[in-house]
Amino acid sequence: MANSASAQPSPAPAGADGETRRDFLLYSTVAFGAVGTAMMVWPLIDSMNPAADTLALSTTEFNLSGVQEGQGVVIIWRGKPVFVRYRTQKEIDDARAVALADLIDPAKDEDRVQKDQDKYLILVGVCTHLGCIPLGSKAMETRGEYGGWFCPCHGSHYDTSGRIRKGPAPANLEVPPYTFISDTTVRIG
Ligand code: FES
Repeated sequence: MANSASAQPSPAPAGADGETRRDFLLYSTVAFGAVGTAMMVWPLIDSMNPAADTLALSTTEFNLSGVQEGQGVVIIWRGKPVFVRYRTQKEIDDARAVALADLIDPAKDEDRVQKDQDKYLILVGVCTHLGCIPLGSKAMETRGEYGGWFCPCHGSHYDTSGRIRKGPAPANLEVPPYTFISDTTVRIG
């Protein structure tokens, strides 16, 4: 009489062939899994890299040689207006004559400009109240009661250092990061 056990398929041998097949399947699965994960993640990682045009816009260079003493201009940096004013000596003196105790947001003028280029005042041109763009950069625009900028939205007055002097704005106009890369060229950002 035949042994019924002998009619059953033999279990996979515990030897080298069986182990090798299982290991191959396991490794293949892991390898495909890793590749699949990498393929899914790469577009995500790649999308997190700033695009070249975004990098180009993160800094803006501006040639100041065309700006006359007393004149202001507006340039765009990262989609925001930036005020550049070539201040007269009187405007600088006026800014420095103010006692810090009289300021809403105390800050020295000397700390808001660069030492060797302190005639140039460079500011983010966004009112710190609710974000309007103050007047005072173009000829014929009012500069407010303190000779700097005036925000007509709710009546904030900034001085010749861009400091808030009157009105609802709580803080001075922001000074952006910038570097002079020559006597006449400034890089903002
Ligand atoms: S947004 Fe400038 S005063 Fe309100």
